[in-house]
Amino acid sequence: MDFIKVERGDDGIAVLTIDRQEKLNSLNPQVIEEIGQALLELEDDQPRVTIVTGAGDRSFIAGADIAVMNEMSALEAKRFAELGHAATALLDRSPVPTIAAVNGFALGGGCEVALACDIRIAAENALFGFPEVTLGILPGLGGTQRLPRLVGPGVAKEMIFSGRRIKAEEARMINLVNRVVPEGEAFNAARELAEEIASNGPIAVRHAKAAANKAQDVDLVSGLEYEADQFALLFGTEDAREGMGAFVEKREAEFKGR
Ligand code: COA
Repeated sequence: MDFIKVERGDDGIAVLTIDRQEKLNSLNPQVIEEIGQALLELEDDQPRVTIVTGAGDRSFIAGADIAVMNEMSALEAKRFAELGHAATALLDRSPVPTIAAVNGFALGGGCEVALACDIRIAAENALFGFPEVTLGILPGLGGTQRLPRLVGPGVAKEMIFSGRRIKAEEARMINLVNRVVPEGEAFNAARELAEEIASNGPIAVRHAKAAANKAQDVDLVSGLEYEADQFALLFGTEDAREGMGAFVEKREAEFKGR
């Protein structure tokens, strides 16, 4: 892979870095394909948490590659959007939690990749926005669908219709990001959170993610039914016996992922 680096530590934390710094990590079709390929390979590798970040200290992802999109026909644009949808679906449907460490520009497609992660941690210098309408197009990698679900339709529409960029603190106020940390600290903060998640029962975390994702897709009654099934299923795992047993015996739990 030319633009994606994947590191997988013994601690079960995988780090996927988009590295196309000369173009501020913007997404051409090859970069998007490589993100998809890396995420598929990680599914086989079964990390406990995946962190997604941009290389360098200026940009997470500065959007889809405008120079490439400028040459696209309508049909090619449709394929490009579908490629983006496939890669971002691999993120939000990843069996393990995904954290975006947003270390700078998260514009257009960059904001869309961050939105497909479960959790977003932003550095103070991060800048979010959907500049697509200023280019005569619209967000095509999931932004019109995921942003309203996360921040509500009114705030999402204001961002998408205006193309206005917002700073990290405003992004936190509208719940676009979970947390803002000092410049240069997004990755460390994401890793700290990843370590906390990775210390928990891994099967429990995976099923908790699946249940929380259901809340986006189904009505409350169906979602609660799904939750009850997932809850019951965990009682058949060694980890649940270990976790609850350790509490009762007043000792630290040692989860084995079984
Ligand atoms: N697509 C293609 N190239 C991009 C890009 C994008 N989305 N974002 C940045 N680049 C390229 C620039 O063209 C430039 O390339 P060059 O050195 O060959 O000229 C390089 O990355 C550095 O960017 P530059 O604009 O010189 O940096 P800057 O600090 O002056 O500005 C931004 C940074 C992010 C504000 C500016 O690059 C920008 O507005 N980018 C487009 C953001 C956008 O609209 N994204 C959504 C697309 S749908």
